[in-house]
Amino acid sequence: MRITIIGTGYVGLTTGVCLAGVGHEVICVDVQRGRVDAINRGASPFYEPGLDEMLAASLADGRLRATTELAESVAASEVTLIAVGTPQRPDGQIDLSYIAAAARDVGAALRGAGGYRVVAVKSTVVPGTTDTLVRSLVEEASGMAAGDFGLCMNPEFLREGSAVYDFNSPDRIVIGQWDEKSGRTMAKMYESFDCPKIFTTLRNAEMIKYASNSLLATLISFSNEIAALCEATPGTDVEDVLAGVHLDRRLSPNVEGRRVRPEILSFLRAGCGFGGSCLPKDVNALRAYARERSVEPHVLDAVLAVNSERPAQLVRMAEEALGTLEGATVAVMGLAFKPGTDDLRESPSLPVIRLLSEKGAAVKTYDPMFTREPPDLRVGDGVGFCGTAEESLRGADAALVVTGWPEFAEADWASLCGLMRRKVIIDGRNVLRGVSWSAGVTYMPVGQAPA
Ligand code: NAD
Ligand code: UGA
Repeated sequence: MRITIIGTGYVGLTTGVCLAGVGHEVICVDVQRGRVDAINRGASPFYEPGLDEMLAASLADGRLRATTELAESVAASEVTLIAVGTPQRPDGQIDLSYIAAAARDVGAALRGAGGYRVVAVKSTVVPGTTDTLVRSLVEEASGMAAGDFGLCMNPEFLREGSAVYDFNSPDRIVIGQWDEKSGRTMAKMYESFDCPKIFTTLRNAEMIKYASNSLLATLISFSNEIAALCEATPGTDVEDVLAGVHLDRRLSPNVEGRRVRPEILSFLRAGCGFGGSCLPKDVNALRAYARERSVEPHVLDAVLAVNSERPAQLVRMAEEALGTLEGATVAVMGLAFKPGTDDLRESPSLPVIRLLSEKGAAVKTYDPMFTREPPDLRVGDGVGFCGTAEESLRGADAALVVTGWPEFAEADWASLCGLMRRKVIIDGRNVLRGVSWSAGVTYMPVGQAPA
């Protein structure tokens, strides 16, 4: 099948490379010439494990190419997927301007193209977007009515850091369809994927995506609220409490005599909050969508409120341990919103750095993913970037672990602590629980009251 994908970000490019990998002919379209050139050279514009290798293979066998020429690509394809960004506006609502621009361009490309083609939204969009905004723009620009062209909504569930694996081994494929023919045509694209395939309404597909991300965010905030309670209750420890909760058979069932630990338990862990380009923006968008419809989003409000408190809690722990942050030097360990990615969008590290600076601390940052200061680390004066953990910890009064990189758990903390002026370690991800601390080190994990 020939497929055009509009937008070559995490979702668009991963989708393109993986669909090429199962034999389709894929054209990736982006407005950014630099991205397009990089892709054609075999260099992914962002870090994603395994993507460069698959990109090189699909370029070599001629199954994938990138271009800025949207019109001819769409006209030459049976299915066009729109995978552009849907960022958050300052009022919390979803910004659909990139979707609208892409829909208009796709419609214009369909005008006079002949044949039956499917337009599918892969980006995360609020319910009603595909059958109102997208449909009307494509209809207007193409001069056709939905039905003459196919219309689908096909949400994506991949995670950054395991995007290739997630796309190739999906839990489910959701196809929201304008009519049966749209869904049937789109399903050909996924013929080789062996997983449950749900054919449903366009709006159900849109809502499934938001409900899925909101559930994950809710579990994280639930765990963090229990952590906050434990932090205020001497004699409790959130790790022990949640380990006890996880052992409920409804969370870790017995399968053939063995207790299994489903992956969902990894979202029932305390930490310093969720970040990334999706969970915060999607919960915000669903909340704004609810309010527009006069539905009070009580749970979503609480999820975001708990999440916004976690970075401040980490900074409070450092302040309590040091007495004051004024004049202190603090190492922030980890910048990415989670391990396995170089994405800083909405990372909890950003509010942590900002709060430390506001309280008068000199901040030194380190992340194993970066050897040079990331260009999007806009955190202001008084914040230094370090290329090694040693550099960030030398002379520091405290270290705050914000990203749970495995490297941090495996580090030689005896020698790292030797570099510090005062030896306070605040573990915002509870990844250093297994370390044997030398005398004189104050180690504070999240979810425990100070001794
Ligand atoms: P991204 O910001 O990484 O990439 C978007 C790309 O679209 C950019 O390269 C941009 O130049 C391009 N673009 C914008 N307007 C365009 C246009 N009119 N024509 C051609 N190209 C255009 O975005 P992303 O992280 O891949 O996310 C895309 C969508 O997928 C969002 O709705 C997001 O919520 C959703 N999503 C993201 C993830 C993830 O892990 N990042 C997972 C599931 C779903
Ligand atoms: C998330 C979802 O997991 C994907 O299914 C979805 O497709 C994607 O959003 C999306 O729509 O973009 P992602 O943002 O890549 O994927 O990252 P996650 O692994 O879900 O982690 C999100 C954040 O939650 C990270 O900051 C992580 O550190 C944090 N987290 C995770 C916690 O704070 N605690 C946990 O227990 C688990």
